[in-house]
Amino acid sequence: MKNEQSHRIPTTDDIEVSTYLGIAKELHGEQATPEPKPLPPKERETIVVIDFGSQYSMLIARRIRECHVYCELVPWDTPWDKIAPLNPRGFVLSGGPASVYNPDAPLALPYIYDKHLPVLGICYGMQVIAHQLGGQISPGEKHEYGHAILYLNTEDCPLFASLPPSFPVWMSHGDQILDAPPDFKTLAYTDNSPIAVMGNDEGIFGLQFHPEVVHTPVGKTIFQNFVYKVCSCQGNWTSANFIAESIEKIKEQVGKGKAICALSGGVDSAVTATLIHRAIGNNLTCIFINNGLLRRQEPERVLNTFLRNLKMNVTYVDASERFLERLKGVTDPETKRHMIGEEFIKVFEEEAAKLGKVNFLAQGTLYPDVIESSSASETKASATIKTHHNVGGLPARMKLSLIEPLRYLFKDEVREVGFALGLPEDMTWRQPFPGPGLAIRIVGEVTRERLEILRAADWIVMNEIKKAKLYRQLWQSFAVLTGIKSVGVTGDYRSYAYTIAIRAINSNDAMTAEWAHLPYDLLGRISDRIVNEVPNVNRVVYDITNKPPATIEWE
Ligand code: XMP
Repeated sequence: MKNEQSHRIPTTDDIEVSTYLGIAKELHGEQATPEPKPLPPKERETIVVIDFGSQYSMLIARRIRECHVYCELVPWDTPWDKIAPLNPRGFVLSGGPASVYNPDAPLALPYIYDKHLPVLGICYGMQVIAHQLGGQISPGEKHEYGHAILYLNTEDCPLFASLPPSFPVWMSHGDQILDAPPDFKTLAYTDNSPIAVMGNDEGIFGLQFHPEVVHTPVGKTIFQNFVYKVCSCQGNWTSANFIAESIEKIKEQVGKGKAICALSGGVDSAVTATLIHRAIGNNLTCIFINNGLLRRQEPERVLNTFLRNLKMNVTYVDASERFLERLKGVTDPETKRHMIGEEFIKVFEEEAAKLGKVNFLAQGTLYPDVIESSSASETKASATIKTHHNVGGLPARMKLSLIEPLRYLFKDEVREVGFALGLPEDMTWRQPFPGPGLAIRIVGEVTRERLEILRAADWIVMNEIKKAKLYRQLWQSFAVLTGIKSVGVTGDYRSYAYTIAIRAINSNDAMTAEWAHLPYDLLGRISDRIVNEVPNVNRVVYDITNKPPATIEWE
């Protein structure tokens, strides 16, 4: 990333440390630290998803993990020596944008068939199997996209255990199977695909439809059948096992070394810190920097949880003055981001230096960030456009190794682990909050007065949304201090005061978002309370713009 590019990130929460460190590193012209090698998993059973570039590949991995079976997504050309340590119990070949007859079409490497493990090919993955094992593919006469009804030819197939004779599925393909390979049976069909499911006696199956998307309601059962009835997995991927295993690994990695972790109040850093604390106790120091841009009661809440309840070693730094001093007169959103990033890294380094010798830095990097930054995104198979890479490196001079216990978890798994670790619900379920905090929710200059206004308005939005039991459902909901002042009337007096905008959106990954259709009476209540309770605000508006074209944050 170049400096002039935005540092907005797709899924946020509290991985701003990475962002800041990334920004700082770029400003100093330093090289990214090499990716840490994952520790070899012990006695783990893994389903390996071979990624041919489908937009749904990550979803397949999530669905399998929901069945309590560990799953990793790897680029299609990953060699066997990288796969073997995972102890694979079966493969899923994902969909993808290619056609098997393209000269440079990605195909399954020989080990997929030679190891005699079960294989489930989905859409393009099914065509790969058919092509490589002697079947025939043709461009479909009709491209099939959308709902279809699947009719089973047999009940005697482990993939279909406890499923009805026909059910709705989601199709999205052009090519289709004309002839199944020798020894394969046609197990199901749709009106447009005579061979919609095929399989042989060795546990190799192909599905023309997508079981991973919600539009295939029985998809979860199909994955369950695959992992348990075909691959004979035990289902040992649980929060409790993950916690026990992580604690062991962290102990092994850190030994008697010392670690630091930046807390932000979000679930990722909270779970990271708690896991590491369980492993190494007071050899972990958490640094919680108040940049003066946090929400109301956020610092108190974080300190209460970590310092008082969890009895962790927390250094609290109130650096509000420093940050606000730097932001004086700054109105450009990207300049705000850079300054906050730079200041953060300075404060962080100063505090870390006071601790004496420290060997490790903990970060709450999640699996989607790893996948985005891995070579998977660079494979020729992928037609998706990746925008942000948020797996930051460390400034080289800090000479710290990374501990990233959440590196293989999805967000919902992090919440589950947080819950299992006993973290409070308002932390495990906190909506994402951007690293630069309220600074990018104030249009124009950030001042103490403006921050106080925004905090008060934001507090009302959050409380009313929580009271309406919508907080968990919404991806984000918050107030924005628009730079606009407008005329109003209060009692007998004319007023000239700020306009607050309310933003509430639904989203799956923050890459796209829809404005939430909040009930009018809820909006009315929020508006009434803001104009009555927050001084210097006389107007409230609701932002009804989707992303794209708007972004979620106003700056
Ligand atoms: P936008 O505004 O780009 O936001 O639609 C997408 C998601 O990213 C968050 N966001 C940030 N998070 N540093 C962060 O840590 C940033 O500079 C930043 N900008 C936006 C935003 O809250 C939303 O969840």
